[in-house]
Amino acid sequence: MAKAVLNGDRILGTIHRNIYGHFSEHLGYCIYGGIYVGPDSDIPNTNGLRNDVLEALRNMKIPVLRWPGGCFADEYHWKDGVGRKENRPSMINTHWGGVVENNHFGTHEFMELCELIGADPYICGNVGSGTVKEMSEWVEYITFDGESPMANWRKENGREQPWRLPYFGVGNENWGCGGHMRAEYYADLYRHYQTYVRRYGPHKIYKIACGPNTDDYHWTEVLMRQAGRFMDGLSLHYYTVPGTWQNKGSSTDFTEKEWFITLKKTLYMDELITKHSTIMDRYDPEQRVGLIVDEWGTWYDPLPGTNPGFLQQQNTLRDALVAGVNFHIFHKHCRRVHMANLAQLVNVLQAVILTNGPEMILTPTYHVFKMFSVHQDSELLDLTFNSPEYIYEGESIPAVSASASKNADGEVYISLCNLDPNNDHEFTCELRGISVEKLSGEILTSSKITDHNDFDKPDVVKPEAFDRASITDGILQVSLPAKSVVVIKLS
Ligand code: AHR
Repeated sequence: MAKAVLNGDRILGTIHRNIYGHFSEHLGYCIYGGIYVGPDSDIPNTNGLRNDVLEALRNMKIPVLRWPGGCFADEYHWKDGVGRKENRPSMINTHWGGVVENNHFGTHEFMELCELIGADPYICGNVGSGTVKEMSEWVEYITFDGESPMANWRKENGREQPWRLPYFGVGNENWGCGGHMRAEYYADLYRHYQTYVRRYGPHKIYKIACGPNTDDYHWTEVLMRQAGRFMDGLSLHYYTVPGTWQNKGSSTDFTEKEWFITLKKTLYMDELITKHSTIMDRYDPEQRVGLIVDEWGTWYDPLPGTNPGFLQQQNTLRDALVAGVNFHIFHKHCRRVHMANLAQLVNVLQAVILTNGPEMILTPTYHVFKMFSVHQDSELLDLTFNSPEYIYEGESIPAVSASASKNADGEVYISLCNLDPNNDHEFTCELRGISVEKLSGEILTSSKITDHNDFDKPDVVKPEAFDRASITDGILQVSLPAKSVVVIKLS
C-alpha cells in the first residue's frame, strides 16, 4: 500500500505549462506528411497544414513547439525556406535518411502552425554551419516591426506584422551533430552568437544555450561558469533507450524485462536533473536560468521495413507510463525545469500522433499529455508518500509515482502511475488543507503491456472514466490497477 499525505496549503512551486511542450524536426514524416501536406493535397488542410492534426494538437493543449531541429537545425539555412515555394532551393537532409528537403515548410508555415494550435514558437538557430549574421537576420525577419531589409522582405513574402518569438535556441547538440565542439569552445561561441539575437520589439526573447548530453556534468559546469549570465535557459537531452544505441529494442515486441528496464531508465531522469541542478545552483542560486529538457522520450529500433533514418516506432502502454513518470519528475523540479519537449510530435520516436496517408491515430502518449494538461500553470502541492516496490528478478523500483497540483480555480488534481504490470496497489492519502465536495477520475490502461493503437484499431488504449476512488473522513482511497495512469480531480 502507498500511504500518502497531501498538504493542500503547502505550495512547492509553479508547474510551467511549457513542461508539456513538444518538438518537431525535419525528420522522416514528422513535418512532411505528418503536419504539412501542402495546400493541393486531398487531405483536408489549412494552407497545407493537416486539419486533423491541428485539431488534435489544440485539444491536447500544446503550449510550446520547438523547430526545425534537432540535428537538422545546425544545417538549416532559413533563407532557403521563405518566399515563393517554386523558388525555394532544395537541400539534402544528410542526418535523416539523405532525402531531398524542398524547403516548402519554412518560417511562415511554422509560425502559422503555432498560431493555429495556440502554441508558443521555440526556434533553434544554426551555430554548427550557420553564421552570426544569418542567425541575427532570422530574428530581425521574424520580430522587427518597422523598415529594415529583413522586415521588408518578410512583408514582401506576405506577412505585414512581426511575429512574437518568445524562445530561441542557440544551436543544438553542439557537443555532437551540431559541430562536435568542446564545452569551452561552445561557451564562447554561445556568448558571441547570442549577442546578435537582438530584442527588436517589446517582448524579450528567452535565450536557450545548448546544454549537456545526459550525464555530461562538465558541460553544465563550463557553460554556467563561462556563459551563465548570458542565457535564460540551458538545455538537457536524455532519451530512454531500453537496450544499447546499437540494439535499442523493439517498440512493440517486448517482455516484462524490457518494460522494467525502460521504466528504471526513465526514473534516471530524476538523478540527472538533480545533479545538473546542483551545478546550476552554484552559479545561479536564484534559479533564474531554466533547465530546458528539450529532447526526451523513448528511442527504440525503427519499425521493420521503414527507412532507419526516419526513426519510426510504435507507442504502447509502456510509453504512456514513461510519459507520466517523466512529468512527475519535471513537476518535482519545477523551480528549475521551465520547459520540456517530447521528441517528437508526429511520426518520429515517442510521437503523440501517427499518420498514414489521410489516416491519423492518437497514441497512448497523446492521451497522457491530454489527461495531465490539467497540471499546466498550476501550483505544485506537497504530496509525500511511501511507495511499495515493484520487484523484477531481484531488482526493484518504486511501483507508484504521483504528483498533485492546484489550479487557479482551486481544483486539485492528483496524477498517479502504477508501474507494476502485475499488481494493483492501494493509494491511501490523508487530505490536509483542502475541502472536497466532488471527486472524479480518468484512467488509461489496457490488458497487455504491449497494447497500442494502430490504424485498423485506433482505440485499444484510450482514457476511460475511473470509479475506484472514494473519500471517507478526509482520507482519499484509490485502488490503482496494475500498469495504469490515473488522474483524480478533487473540487
Ligand atoms: O530527436 C532525434 C535527434 O536526437 C535530434 O535530431 C538530435 O538533437 C538528437 O540526437
